[in-house]
Amino acid sequence: MKNNTGENMKEKKIFVGTTKEDQEAIKKYCRGKAVELGTLEGGTTRVMSKYADEVTTIDVFEDINLMTDEASKDFVQGHHKILKDLYFRVCENLSDIDNILVVQGDVLKVAKEWKEKIDCIFMDAGHEYNSIKSYVDSWGKHLEKNGYLLIHDTKEISPHIGSVKFSNELKEDKQWEFIEQCDNIAVFKKL
Ligand SMILES: C[S@@+](CC[C@H](N)C(=O)[O-])C[C@H]1O[C@@H](n2cnc3c(N)ncnc32)[C@H](O)[C@@H]1O
Repeated sequence: MKNNTGENMKEKKIFVGTTKEDQEAIKKYCRGKAVELGTLEGGTTRVMSKYADEVTTIDVFEDINLMTDEASKDFVQGHHKILKDLYFRVCENLSDIDNILVVQGDVLKVAKEWKEKIDCIFMDAGHEYNSIKSYVDSWGKHLEKNGYLLIHDTKEISPHIGSVKFSNELKEDKQWEFIEQCDNIAVFKKL
């Protein structure tokens, strides 16, 4: 089957940033109104949409100038190939699923305008210590009491030392209960 740009849909490979074990955590904790910070190609968004009622996924996509924090910008430039028309492609790739909303924007800016309560947040945007800290500060308040916060790339051996350090500190924070580490995902409950 070909799409309207002539690409063969069967050959289209979508990047999925989570392992099978990570996805077990998503299956267990992703529910209700869920938000993903950092979409990339939408591979994990698709997984989240199976368990949540609605998923909002947020990314700057190809427009990295939307990012307000320089550390995240350096991370994206260093780790990801910036794909042309990524926002459009992701919307198209996910268009067969009706409980996903794809938002192009900076996660910190979107947090300021956010109005609804959230049941689960999957945090996988910038991976620097200060970036993750600012995401938890700005998004944590939108999470329901007993809602779940899933932070990616927090396994002790992860090269993302900022994520690991932040996650270890959060384990000592009385506003959060550390639930478990599922492969690369640290799961916290908001108290
Ligand atoms: C590791 S990838 C996400 C992978 C995806 N969650 C998955 O599992 O397939 C990180 C993404 O976060 C986005 N990102 C990083 N910092 C951001 C920010 N401040 N605002 C919006 N998006 C950001 C990048 O553009 C990149 O696409």
